[in-house]
Amino acid sequence: MASRSRLRGRLVALIVIGWSAVASLAWAHGERTQEPFLRMRSILFYDCQWSTDRLKVNDELVLSGRFRVFDDWPIEVMGRPETVYINTGVPGPVFVRKESFLNGVNMANSTSLTIGGDYEFRVKLRARAPGTYHVHPLINVYYAGPIQGPGKWVTIEPGGGPFTNPEKTLMGQEVDLERFGLSTVVGWHLVWVAVALVWLVWWVRRPLFIPRYILVTRGAEDELVSATDRKLAAGLFVATLAIVVIGNYWAITKYPITVPLQSSRIRVKPLPRPAQGVEVDLVKATYEVPGRTVYLDLKVTNQSAKPVRLSELTTANVRFLNAAVAKDEPGYPRDLIAPSGLVVEPEAAIGPGETKLIHVSATDPIWETERLALLLYDPDSRFGGLLMFQDSEGTRYLSTVGGPILPTFNLKAL
Ligand code: CUA
Repeated sequence: MASRSRLRGRLVALIVIGWSAVASLAWAHGERTQEPFLRMRSILFYDCQWSTDRLKVNDELVLSGRFRVFDDWPIEVMGRPETVYINTGVPGPVFVRKESFLNGVNMANSTSLTIGGDYEFRVKLRARAPGTYHVHPLINVYYAGPIQGPGKWVTIEPGGGPFTNPEKTLMGQEVDLERFGLSTVVGWHLVWVAVALVWLVWWVRRPLFIPRYILVTRGAEDELVSATDRKLAAGLFVATLAIVVIGNYWAITKYPITVPLQSSRIRVKPLPRPAQGVEVDLVKATYEVPGRTVYLDLKVTNQSAKPVRLSELTTANVRFLNAAVAKDEPGYPRDLIAPSGLVVEPEAAIGPGETKLIHVSATDPIWETERLALLLYDPDSRFGGLLMFQDSEGTRYLSTVGGPILPTFNLKAL
């Protein structure tokens, strides 16, 4: 008996290990396969928030945050961000997007972004299908594809009733967009299916391939189409036109006022920036492969009126925090944060007007697990990231950093 239960225990362990291997494979659903340079040098998300990570069908989730359009945007590969669209990265229509804003501007349309600019987004979603999903903010960039923000697991539980999508029209009518006009859609499909079936059956009921092929090879293809066929074709043609015209008339009468889908491109100005910030020049960047550490030598000039310290390095949605300055953020996905991964030497603050060389190390296996270290195998091993400085009163200054990065294969190669 004892050996049998041990066997069962082993079997369970095996299944658990196997399942977690499968699950971890399934969880890496694409975001890590995107080229690291695309993720590090295009749109740098920060301050991302999910209003909740557990909600019921028909409840609302607000995705908000900011992003910086990286100064050294890879124009040679991606073109300029002339047409972008604020979107949501979720597996299928599990939410509906009720509204989205960029710097307070309604984002029903596409927009263009200014390279180097900061933008604030806000997307309101309504839960539609129960399940657990990785929810990302997402920016669709024409030519470049989707650039995803950080993903957080969000669980939608079944609600009291079925999903509804209530909306008030401009005429004041309350409609449920989930079902609005559904019978019309189904009805029109049936009408055209009927027309198609009549035409198909008319031809299919007669011998098809071989006899017709023989007629064609004999040069008697005229016999293929009879006078009745022509009459039916003409009749169907007239009927089709009549259905279209009558249908159009019916729609105009039933819905006299309609607004077409908006599909233009507008321009949104970046957020205003403080006149005096913190300037950063990259002196040297190395990636220590065995130690999974990025070392940065930076020349920092503090143009603000107060002493500042480096609190965070963020790139490709991964955050390295300087535990001495930044406080941990429990709401941020744990797999994307290294709460004490950033070490700054010397530790002392940079005084107002001072220019100082600092040495920064960002250590975490995240460089490998998020597949960012693959950057080193690119023909253009340039990285990018966002540095956050803070003064004693919590005022924050953002600076981008970027440039070529070299691998080292020896530990502590400073
Ligand atoms: Cu795809 Cu998270």
